[in-house]
Amino acid sequence: MMKIQHKKLLAWVEEMQNLCEPDTVYWCDGSKEEADRLLHEMEKKGAAIRLNPEKRPNSFLFRSDPKDVARVEKRTFICSKKQDDAGPTNNWEDPVVMKEKLKKLFKGCMHGRTMYVIPFCMGPLGSPISHIGIEITDSAYVVVNMRIMTRMGQKVIDQLGADGHFVPCLHSVGKPLEKGQADVRWPCDPDNTYIVHFPEERSIYSFGSGYGGNALLGKKCFALRIASNMARDEGWLAEHMLILGVKSPEGKKKYVTAAFPSACGKTNFAMIIPPKEMKGWTITTVGDDIAWLKPDEKGILRAINPESGFFGVAPGTSLKTNPNALASCRCDSIFTNVALTDDGDIWWEGLTDTPPKHLIDWQGNDWTPDCGRVSSHPNSRFTAPVKNCPCVDEACEDPKGVPIDAMIYGGRRMSEIPLVYQSYNWVHGVLVGATVASEQTAAAEGKQGELRSDPMAMLPFCGYHMGRYFGHHVNMAKRVKKLPLIFHTNWFRKDNGKFIWPGFGENMRVLKWIFDRVDNKIDADKTPLGWMPRYKDIDWSGLNFSEEQWKVLMALSPKTLKEQFSSPELLFVKLLPSVPEELKKEYQLLLERLG
Ligand code: OXD
Ligand code: MN
Repeated sequence: MMKIQHKKLLAWVEEMQNLCEPDTVYWCDGSKEEADRLLHEMEKKGAAIRLNPEKRPNSFLFRSDPKDVARVEKRTFICSKKQDDAGPTNNWEDPVVMKEKLKKLFKGCMHGRTMYVIPFCMGPLGSPISHIGIEITDSAYVVVNMRIMTRMGQKVIDQLGADGHFVPCLHSVGKPLEKGQADVRWPCDPDNTYIVHFPEERSIYSFGSGYGGNALLGKKCFALRIASNMARDEGWLAEHMLILGVKSPEGKKKYVTAAFPSACGKTNFAMIIPPKEMKGWTITTVGDDIAWLKPDEKGILRAINPESGFFGVAPGTSLKTNPNALASCRCDSIFTNVALTDDGDIWWEGLTDTPPKHLIDWQGNDWTPDCGRVSSHPNSRFTAPVKNCPCVDEACEDPKGVPIDAMIYGGRRMSEIPLVYQSYNWVHGVLVGATVASEQTAAAEGKQGELRSDPMAMLPFCGYHMGRYFGHHVNMAKRVKKLPLIFHTNWFRKDNGKFIWPGFGENMRVLKWIFDRVDNKIDADKTPLGWMPRYKDIDWSGLNFSEEQWKVLMALSPKTLKEQFSSPELLFVKLLPSVPEELKKEYQLLLERLG
């Protein structure tokens, strides 16, 4: 039994218990025994499938309700006191009205279930950049995932002490069980799902979904939507960014963050393996999804990964595309909505070139390669511990964080946008991030392929007014002594329907160019978009890529670009009235350069 000295915490848990009326309350200590026990219970109930221990030790497969498979942005709310503070990109409801609605939904919602109390820390314990949350949930699936994704349990309670600050996060799958009522495999209430944030109160309420970012509240809800509010007030940044280390053959190390929209290969990029011809270059991983960045006492911008696990998109992950991610989930992992092989292992589209002859698909049905269906949901996931990753960075657990030298913004763009360019200065870099647009993927609901503005990859995750969020980025220049250089990349340009750039490990060549720019080693070409690399300054060892291809990849058409950058459809254009003067000026300069 845990000893809790924190009066406010005890009072909040009691209040939630009275509201949700669970059968029992259980405080999670975060131990392996606890996770084993919960997984075993779920296995017995048919909610989890233990994978073949010889092939995939201590790993489990879950199949969700087919109506609960992704984040639901339509049902995600920022309930600030004033609607204007949520801005035009967020759903808003008056906090008093929303609280009433939530009270009704949560009243008695945990009948027949256990209420788990999960103390968790986002970031290394004791780091000046980390923050603590408490998630209350009626889902054991959430508990075992949170144990991988966060530092959780007794050690967090110890850290919290008698009066430490925590973000209260209440979650329910929204399926009370009345006496004698049998449970279903994946309880949820898709028609009544609400993902609600109260930014002033710094609290989170999530109802009706058990999936991913809807339910693992440390991730998008806390580490991005609530944390972006904390960061604005406290002078730091909470960003949808991976963090990686680049080491040169001479042993020089630099750290780079990158923000790409959901399911644009962030996990792949965070752990790329350099081409073998680029001898001596190594990449190490700090994080694959979220970065918290804070200036230290010397004004150096330092970053931590608030998470301790990867919640990666499974389809497309293979030995060719990302061997490090595969190694990360070789054991102690959880798989959701992927296919089951006849020998008790997992499979998904793209894992191997030739699919197995028979599988059980993500909905539990027989599957054969010719059946005309995919075996795994496009947003199926693996939950794997960061420490399993063969290329994990040595400073991953360093409470000081790692010093950031460069930041990359990018999107998925079939046309117009070149492989890479560098902003002229910090404010121009903010503009580069603020004008990112990308073709839609499967991580959220919506039409795939459609171009949508996704500034800094934060559209679904910024917990306040997006225009003011840009302003906060601009202001960071006053707090940071050595500002990171800012770049834009696009791995996805096509010519005649085919990708021009090979991507994956070859992206190391772009990272090396960025490294050399940070080192002030090479010149670049001045273009309307920003600094662009010269063909001769890219390391081509081991890759056949002609200067002709390079020209196609890097071509700019100022007229089309100007149309795109000034299109009323572009979110940045809609937000213009609310962005700071400096940024408006930078935008005018861009349009002038484009002619
Ligand atoms: C994610 C996302 O799940 O960005 O990481 O949607
Ligand atoms: Mn993400």
